Amino acid sequence: MSTYKIAWLPGDGIGKDVMDATRLVLDRMHLDAEYLHGDIGWEFWCKEGDAFPQRTIDLLRHVDAAMFGAITSKPVKAAEAELIPELRGKGLVYRSPIVRMRQMFDLYICLRPCKAYAGNPLNLKEGIDLVVFRENTEDLYAGVEFSPVPKELADVLGKLSRPFHVFKDMPTDQYAVSCKVNSKKGSERIVRAAFEFAKKHNRRKVTIVHKANVVRATDGLFLEEARKVARDYPGIQCDEANVDAICMWLLKNPFSYDVLVAPNLYGDIISDLAAQMVGGLGFGCSGNIGQQLAVFEPSHGSAPKYAGQNKVNPIATILAAKMMLDWLGEKEKGAHLERATSAAIKEGRVRTYDMGGSNSTTEMAEAICAHL
Ligand code: NAI
Ligand code: MG
Repeated sequence: MSTYKIAWLPGDGIGKDVMDATRLVLDRMHLDAEYLHGDIGWEFWCKEGDAFPQRTIDLLRHVDAAMFGAITSKPVKAAEAELIPELRGKGLVYRSPIVRMRQMFDLYICLRPCKAYAGNPLNLKEGIDLVVFRENTEDLYAGVEFSPVPKELADVLGKLSRPFHVFKDMPTDQYAVSCKVNSKKGSERIVRAAFEFAKKHNRRKVTIVHKANVVRATDGLFLEEARKVARDYPGIQCDEANVDAICMWLLKNPFSYDVLVAPNLYGDIISDLAAQMVGGLGFGCSGNIGQQLAVFEPSHGSAPKYAGQNKVNPIATILAAKMMLDWLGEKEKGAHLERATSAAIKEGRVRTYDMGGSNSTTEMAEAICAHL
């Protein structure tokens, strides 16, 4: 029997290309693992009316970790048009499988390291080394949305003084409501995860990202919980920044920041910004981490125009595999894989199109294998 059971969820589009490349690397490392394929993505919505079938959910209950590629999501009308005729009109609703997976398995930490590997021509500046902790289960992703707005909610809003007097006599199909929901528990545990990480990895500073001056209830609660947690870590510097300001300051002074922690949506946005500072989507890796399960993925999507062309950069997914090795406790192997990736980047002999080269996805993975 293998030491690890790993769910292998390539998804669709370039998800398959980058996962094939990542498997080359893991196989070269002789990780003692059994890889169990799971169906997920657009194809299963079209065929079965469910992009995240129950059998895949069951699979995830019985593995040590999972690797996920990417999936295509389309707007509601396009989604309905592609559903098989027998399923149309049955009231099926397309919901992002990855958001469902994060909530269903309580994968409350989204960990996104953004490191500038030496010699990457896409680095904004050499030496950038940021880590983003994004809350992964609540906030504007809670899925509490109304369109059209039900009468009961419209009545409540109509009774509020500001700013809803604007909507008071407006027909309920003329506006929509998405609720931002943040809990004390959800805020506390993500901030604690960020501080624990900082402590373990000798990071000097944690920056709490919010917009509490405007979004007073939810971001106010997040900030308050964050401040309480920070008091437990007197050895780590803690500062606070508004989400808009941090977008400017990160670009201007990237070396003033270290670990950043934010509610779900702000974390999503600043982690894409931070990824672009160290090479773009081809380098952004991500871990969705809970108590029982962790799912590792590149932060990019399925880039349908490049699907199946063996063209895109697999490094984001290979670095996600490195994160998985760390999470499994295979620190030596994780460090070895990171060193090999870093060496292949520095060497610069093989580069995919985004790095200004013309090598394939497979060739990039093989260049990394050569350093293992
Ligand atoms: P995307 O991330 O798929 O691609 C945007 C562009 O980034 C691509 O056209 C390509 O130029 C570049 N790119 C992405 N990955 C790359 C790589 N590994 N190497 C080199 N270049 C790369 O975002 P887009 O086009 O907005 O979305 C496409 C589909 O992916 C949509 O259906 C979207 O809903 C879905 N998506 C899925 C995600 C997931 O599975 N976690 C995350 C984001 C989007
Ligand atoms: Mg994103």
